[in-house]
Amino acid sequence: METKKNTFAGGVGFILAAAGSAVGLGNLWAFPYKTSQNGGAAFVLLYIISVLVLGFVTMVCEIFIGRRAQANAVSAYKKVNKNLGWCGFLAVMLPVFIICYYSILGGWTLKYATHSFWGNAGMLESFSVNTPEVALFTGVFLLFSAFIIMGGVKNGIEKMSKILMPILFLLIVGIAGYSLTLGEGVRDGLRFFLQPDFSTIGPKQILVAMAQAFYSLSLGMGIMLSYGSYTGTHIDVKKSCMMICFFDTLVALLAGLAIFPAVAHFDPNLLGSSKGIALVFIILPDVFASLGTVGKIVSFLFFAMVCIAAVTSVVSLVEVVTQFIIQKFKVSRKFSGLGVVTFCFLVSIPIAWSLGHVAINGEMEHAFFGMDLLTFFDEVTNTLLMPMGALLACITVGWIIKPENALRELEASGSKMGGAVLQRVFCFMVRFVTPVLILFVELSGIKGELDAGQHAVVITALAFLAVCIGAYFMFLRNTNTGTNADEKLL
Ligand code: PFF
Repeated sequence: METKKNTFAGGVGFILAAAGSAVGLGNLWAFPYKTSQNGGAAFVLLYIISVLVLGFVTMVCEIFIGRRAQANAVSAYKKVNKNLGWCGFLAVMLPVFIICYYSILGGWTLKYATHSFWGNAGMLESFSVNTPEVALFTGVFLLFSAFIIMGGVKNGIEKMSKILMPILFLLIVGIAGYSLTLGEGVRDGLRFFLQPDFSTIGPKQILVAMAQAFYSLSLGMGIMLSYGSYTGTHIDVKKSCMMICFFDTLVALLAGLAIFPAVAHFDPNLLGSSKGIALVFIILPDVFASLGTVGKIVSFLFFAMVCIAAVTSVVSLVEVVTQFIIQKFKVSRKFSGLGVVTFCFLVSIPIAWSLGHVAINGEMEHAFFGMDLLTFFDEVTNTLLMPMGALLACITVGWIIKPENALRELEASGSKMGGAVLQRVFCFMVRFVTPVLILFVELSGIKGELDAGQHAVVITALAFLAVCIGAYFMFLRNTNTGTNADEKLL
C-alpha cells in the first residue's frame, strides 16, 4: 500500500532516471551500426545536430505536458483539450508494442553476459532458435524490470537509476579506454568515427540521423511525459533536458569509441560495412573469444553493461503503461506492473521465435510479410508511430498551448528557461522548425515503407492509430482517467 506521494525526490534522480531511459540498446548497439552503415564521422555530426534541433525541443515539450498535469499521458493531453486525449492514449499504447520486442534483446544481452565465461562466439544461430531458452531469459529480464517498477518512482526507478547509471558509465568509459589501447588499427577506427567525409551525406543519412535521435532519446511516446509528471517545482526543466541529451549523446559517442577501434584492430574490412546489426552479437563475441581470459572478463562487463542499459529503458516503458492503469482503474502498482510485464512476456514469445528462425537463420518460409516479427513491430513503431507521437507533442505545445505560455508556466514553476533571445529561438523552433522536420521524418518513413512494398507496415500503423482514437472517444473521453494524486489512495 502506497500512502506517500509518488514523485522523484530530487533533480539528480530524475535526470539519471530519464537518462537511464534514453541510454539503451539504441546507444550501444544501433548508434554504432548506423554510423557504420552511413559513412562514419559525418553521420555522427548529423546525429548531434538532430539531438539539438529535434531532440532537445521535443523533450522539453513532452516533459512540460506531463509536468503541468501531474498525471498519466491520457489525462495530461486531456488537460490541454478533452479532444486531444487520444494523443496520450497513443503514447500509452505504443510502449506495449516496444516492450514486447525490446525485452527479447534485453534477454539476449542477459544470456550473453551470463554465458561470457563459457564463450559466446558463434552462439547466436543456435541460441536464437531455442525459443524456450530465449523466453526464459526474456522472462527473467522482464521480472527484474517489474520488480523495480513495483518499488515506485522514488524507491524503485530513482534508486535503481542512481545505482545502475554510474556503473554503466564507468563500464563504458573503461571499455572505451581498453579499446583505445589495442594498438594496430586504433587510428583507422578513430579516423572513421571522428574525421568527417561529407561526401557520404545524403537525404537518407539525414533521415536516419533524425530518427535515431528520437529513438535514442526515448521520445515520441509517453516516457518523458510520464517521468515529467513525477517532477515538482524543484526540477529545472531546461537544465534537466540539456543534461539528459548530453548524457545520452556522450554514451553513444563512448560506444563508438569502444567499438570502432576494436573493429578496425580485429577486422578492418568491417569498417563501414553493412553488417552492423551483427556487430554486438556476432562480431564482438568473436573479438572477445580471441582474447582468452581477458576477453571473457571484458565480454562479461560489456554485456552486463548493455543489459543494464536495456533494463533502465524497459523500466521506463513499463512505467508509462503502469501509471495509466493504476490511475485509470485504481489498482495497485504491484498488480498493474506485473500485469503489464506478463502480457508483454506472452506476446514476446512468438516474436522471439520469429526473430531466431527468420531474421537470424533465414528461414524465410516463416516470414511475416517478408520479414520477422521483431522487424515488423520495430518498423511500425520506430519508423511510423514514434515520429507521430513526437509531432503531436510538438504541435500541442507549439500551436495549442503556445510556446510563450509554456515558457511562462515553466518559469513560474521554477525553471530558468534562458534569456529573451534564447526563448524566442525556442518558440520559433517549436512552432516551425521541429514539427516540419519531424513531418519530413514521418513522410519519408511512410514513403520508404511503400517503396519497399511494405504496405502491411503502413496499414498496421494506421489501424493502430485508428484503434487508439476510436477507443479513446468511446471509452476514455468522458470518464475520469485519474492523476498522480490517485496513487496516494492505494
Ligand atoms: N532510448 C532507448 C535506447 O536508446 O535504447 C530505447 C527506447 C526506450 C526507445 C524507450 C523508446 C523508448 F520509449
